[in-house]
Amino acid sequence: QFAPGPLLHFTEDEEMFRDTVAKFAQEVVGPKVREMDENENMDPSIVQGMFDNGLMGIETPEHYGGAEASFTSAILVVEELAKVDPSVSVMNDVHNTLASTCIRKWGSKAVQDKFAERLATKEVGAFALSEAGSGSDAFAMKTTAKKNADGDYVINGSKMWITNSQEASIFLVFANADPSAGYKGITCFVVTKDTPGFSIAKKEKKLGIRASSTCVLNFDDVVVKKEDILGEFGKGYKIAIECLNEGRIGIAAQMSGLAMGAFEKATGYCFNDRKQFGQYIGDFQGMQFQFAQAAVEIEAARLLIYNAARLKEKGVSFTKEAAYAKLYASQVAGNVASKAVEWVGGVGFTREETLEKFYRDSKIGAIYEGTSNIQLQTIAKFLQKESRQ
Ligand code: CAA
Ligand code: FAD
Repeated sequence: QFAPGPLLHFTEDEEMFRDTVAKFAQEVVGPKVREMDENENMDPSIVQGMFDNGLMGIETPEHYGGAEASFTSAILVVEELAKVDPSVSVMNDVHNTLASTCIRKWGSKAVQDKFAERLATKEVGAFALSEAGSGSDAFAMKTTAKKNADGDYVINGSKMWITNSQEASIFLVFANADPSAGYKGITCFVVTKDTPGFSIAKKEKKLGIRASSTCVLNFDDVVVKKEDILGEFGKGYKIAIECLNEGRIGIAAQMSGLAMGAFEKATGYCFNDRKQFGQYIGDFQGMQFQFAQAAVEIEAARLLIYNAARLKEKGVSFTKEAAYAKLYASQVAGNVASKAVEWVGGVGFTREETLEKFYRDSKIGAIYEGTSNIQLQTIAKFLQKESRQ
């Protein structure tokens, strides 16, 4: 149903990546989805499976054990995983498009040598920006980093809502090392799980993506070596937001994948399984027109996503297009997952099927990596600037 339209062109390598991950998602992830959601836990074999199948170092250079594949490949992986489980998909997305990307783009040679291979081959990464008092207003963080007598940094504070906390061992942590400079004091540090004073605290109980861990992180005099600063001192805010511009395309792909997963499941049932009034319910025009509307929305979301990804690969500005993609794909996922539950009727409302889960999972698209209002704000700022040029 969702073969790419004629305007989209993927390379042979990208198609291959997509096929590999589709098989992994269906055969390995599929059977565990319900259990992981009920237990609110990621099965470690799934994480290992992603490493074994080369899905955790997609853009990482080959000499660090990665696949050195395109950004579009990373996006296709997120989309395929989300068709089956948006929780597994976001783990992969945060690991690749946020953690590994930050290390690859801003890490010194020494930082890359220390962490890139570990991230590509065996250790999960996390991205710790948000705090209890600073979500949308992310640069207003209270976590501080103070230089000590050795020239190293001592981090104190707390982060909230951090994806992959339970599974990760390498954390990118944003802290203000010069609050007098406002957000221009924000610096990014690489903190490993075993560092004294660092602890993983409360795990959130959530509406959706329940197999994905989301925790509070505490920093109590955590000493980070000066060599483990990522990029330049005071440039952490740029690292965070430029990385998030890429990550937002990933979340958009999580949402388009989710929409496709829900759509395929529900329409398959309507066209092939369920009869009422002596015919398949999918043969009623009242149903078919809804399917057609949803299919157009999904295709439009995907075009926005792939276009933003290709712009990013070409090295031209893609911030506005990433915001378009995330905003719209989140809306489409919400609409389609909601409709899919309705199309399947009572069965769709039960936990027998994964449709109610897609519906619950879809809500997060409008919240993390910048809420829908933040995407609108980003787009509006561009419109204003473009109009006044
Ligand atoms: N791209 C590049 N630079 C940007 C930018 C963007 N999208 N938005 C802002 N900036 C830059 C500005 O250019 C400016 O930099 P300079 O001073 O060097 O020119 C600086 O950021 C501050 O700009 P503003 O004063 O306009 O921005 P602000 O302080 O009002 O808000 C923001 C900036 C915090 C980035 C906000 O727009 C935002 O995006 N908030 C959402 C935060 C977010 O996405 N958090 C996600 C956490 S990770 C996560 O959620 C992972 C997950 O769930 C899976
Ligand atoms: P708030 O910022 O308080 O927003 C509440 C409402 O106010 C929203 O509707 C918002 O759109 C609106 N609002 C706020 N400011 C404005 C404005 N200027 N104009 C108009 N409306 C506005 N963070 C990380 O750093 N790393 C992670 O790995 C991570 N994973 C997450 C996983 C989950 C499951 C969740 C729920 C969150 C995660 N987050 C993570 C945090 C996430 O990025 C924030 O929740 C998000 O940025 C919104 O911040 P907030 O929750 O504080 O909401």
